[in-house]
Amino acid sequence: MNLLHLADGFRNRFKAEPRVFRAPGRVNLIGEHTDYNDGFVMPAAIHFATYVAVNERDDASVSVYSHTLREAFEFDLTRPGRFGGWRDYVAGTAYALQERGVKLAGANLYIDSDVPLGAGVSSSAALEVATAHALLSVAGANVDPLLIALACQRAENEYVGVRSGIMDQFVSCFGQQNHALMIDCRTLDYEALPLPPGVVLVVCNTMVKHELTGGEYNERRADCEEGSRLLGVAALRDVTLDDLRERGGTLPERVYRRCRHVVTENARVELAADAVRKHDCSRFGELMYESHRSLREDYEVTCDELDLMVDLAREVRGVYGARMTGGGFGGCTINLLAVDAVERFQRSVSDGYRARTGIQPMLYVTGAHDGAGEIVLAG
Ligand code: GLA
Repeated sequence: MNLLHLADGFRNRFKAEPRVFRAPGRVNLIGEHTDYNDGFVMPAAIHFATYVAVNERDDASVSVYSHTLREAFEFDLTRPGRFGGWRDYVAGTAYALQERGVKLAGANLYIDSDVPLGAGVSSSAALEVATAHALLSVAGANVDPLLIALACQRAENEYVGVRSGIMDQFVSCFGQQNHALMIDCRTLDYEALPLPPGVVLVVCNTMVKHELTGGEYNERRADCEEGSRLLGVAALRDVTLDDLRERGGTLPERVYRRCRHVVTENARVELAADAVRKHDCSRFGELMYESHRSLREDYEVTCDELDLMVDLAREVRGVYGARMTGGGFGGCTINLLAVDAVERFQRSVSDGYRARTGIQPMLYVTGAHDGAGEIVLAG
């Protein structure tokens, strides 16, 4: 991201000096579709981020320009509503912060982002969290980052209409350089786990767009709620594999498979955390493949392109593991590999994927990065 261009763009449009805030996208190493079941996840913040330049206004309006989309709109802080599309991530964040008791002030926002859109690396959380930081700065409000994450989740749930869990917003706020976060989505406690030395994360974009607003995400969540209701628990987090073996027979077949994914995935995240602590990348990788299989067969959120991308990765020497990451139905895979396998991996996976689908994929070598904060402009 060229921050000088961002600041210049802001100055040209709003005739004032901005402050700039950044919030990253994320990859999830393991623990998919477990967050809204009060379970465990292990994401890391990535280098792609959304940037918001901001200054204060003397009325109660927020004037917003997205340089990424070349679109502008304005909303009134005193009149909560919905605006459609990307606007609801921005306005919804403002309204959700106010609903949590934060007093905001009018602002001008100039937004730019290099987070791939609709790729399952959380462009939405990055937009929400960067917006929240920008708005809080002009309001002079010093707010607990956990409240920021929860307000941004609420924006997505109530204003965008996706009933997402807390993972994306949480890691966008709390991410740490070179660490994945093992988050307990019930207590919201987390442990920062250092990534083992000598490994690299590569994100492979299938270029097949996912649309979480398409309703399938909410359907999965409804299946899980049905499962926990029938099993008589507060959330699937409270179900063990033994419980499921004993009592799962009473569940409708589809609901049973959804529950089996969540229960086994929670167990995999705990095993994966042990593997990271022991620097056991091979074990971690096996759990990633197992997670993908479960997402494909039981949760049914993969697609042919994601399955192919994982199969291609598995054939490359030096790859420990691969799986889809994020909500699914397209988007990206996350791959864990030895540093010296990167070039071989990029060539082999790109060529193989293009040959089989006719689509040129995008591959991003990333690490784990820090969560949201202010960027001080030089000079
Ligand atoms: C999306 C949601 C998250 C999480 C993942 C699936 O990214 O925003 O809350 O549910 O899907 O793990």
